[in-house]
Amino acid sequence: MMDWTDRHCRVFHRKLSRRAELYTEMVTAPAVVHGDRDRLLGYEAQEHPVVLQLGGSDPAQLAEAAKIGADYSYDAINLNCGCPSDRVQSGSFGAVLMEKADLVADCVAAMIAAQPRPVTVKCRIGVDDQIAEEVLPAFLEKVAAAGVRHFVIHARNAWLQGLSPKENREIPPLNYELAYAMKRAFPHLELCLNGGVAGLEAVPAHLEAGLDGVMIGRAAYHDPAKVLLGADSRLWGAQDPVATAQEAALAMRPYIADHLAKGGRLHHITRHMLGLFTGQPGARSWRRMLSEAGGRRDAGLADYDAALAQMSGVPAG
Ligand SMILES: Cc1cc2nc3c(=O)[nH]c(=O)nc-3n(C[C@H](O)[C@H](O)[C@H](O)COP(=O)(O)O)c2cc1C
Repeated sequence: MMDWTDRHCRVFHRKLSRRAELYTEMVTAPAVVHGDRDRLLGYEAQEHPVVLQLGGSDPAQLAEAAKIGADYSYDAINLNCGCPSDRVQSGSFGAVLMEKADLVADCVAAMIAAQPRPVTVKCRIGVDDQIAEEVLPAFLEKVAAAGVRHFVIHARNAWLQGLSPKENREIPPLNYELAYAMKRAFPHLELCLNGGVAGLEAVPAHLEAGLDGVMIGRAAYHDPAKVLLGADSRLWGAQDPVATAQEAALAMRPYIADHLAKGGRLHHITRHMLGLFTGQPGARSWRRMLSEAGGRRDAGLADYDAALAQMSGVPAG
């Protein structure tokens, strides 16, 4: 998620789950090709499995960007066909690509041919007044024929005129049933659901309906423990990396110390951690103390430890 799921956020989320697949923010293909690659694409080895999401609609440029992403060892390369923002529409990519399945097929075919990693697609169920029940199966069929096996379906139309990106995540109605129907129609494809899933407890119903996975965006950011804590044991039968939010906060200390030692600011990391203790006694003070420290250039580990110490029963250091 743009401006949210940067590398620091992903390192933090990885403390809560080893298995959940993490995604970069959308990075445009021209930026990858012409921009500062280490700044745009650099990440920590501990973030794996991590997927690079690209935005674009020029097959040759996307192929080059996908190749660069593969050279950075991303586990998969995802093409964004779901972002409705004006900026993205004027670049003719994101959700407008739902109207251009042939072009998407050309793009993903070029991306697949250029490099060895799986190429996946995140899409809407349609745009504007398109009839999703007609558009989505045709889109999936065409793009799958070009070699994509894994789709993330944000299960609502995007309205390209008149709604802000935020409204486009809230107002068009969710249609989970259509995603389930797509899995029945295309059982050989891996289909993941996205949109409006509020926590881990909501995931099993979607898996039981046949889907292969669930992508959780805003809830994972705002209340990461509710989504990621316990995910490994509940969804994969694996051992969880930490048992509590407190443990996750402690596990972040070495990474924070390293970032500070390199001249980074506490706020770069802790701005993503404000929701860690949502619902727990002390959560408000945690949020306030970190936010206040975030305003100071010289904020350090002592500020972090102080915020953590006031959480009940948490030893600092
Ligand atoms: C601040 C913000 C930035 C986002 N940036 C992206 C993005 O870069 N790529 C993308 O595919 N979706 C992006 N999204 C959309 C989410 O990935 C997701 O599809 C949407 O929020 C619905 O899922 P949710 O209800 O689980 O949040 C963004 C959402 C938010 C709130």
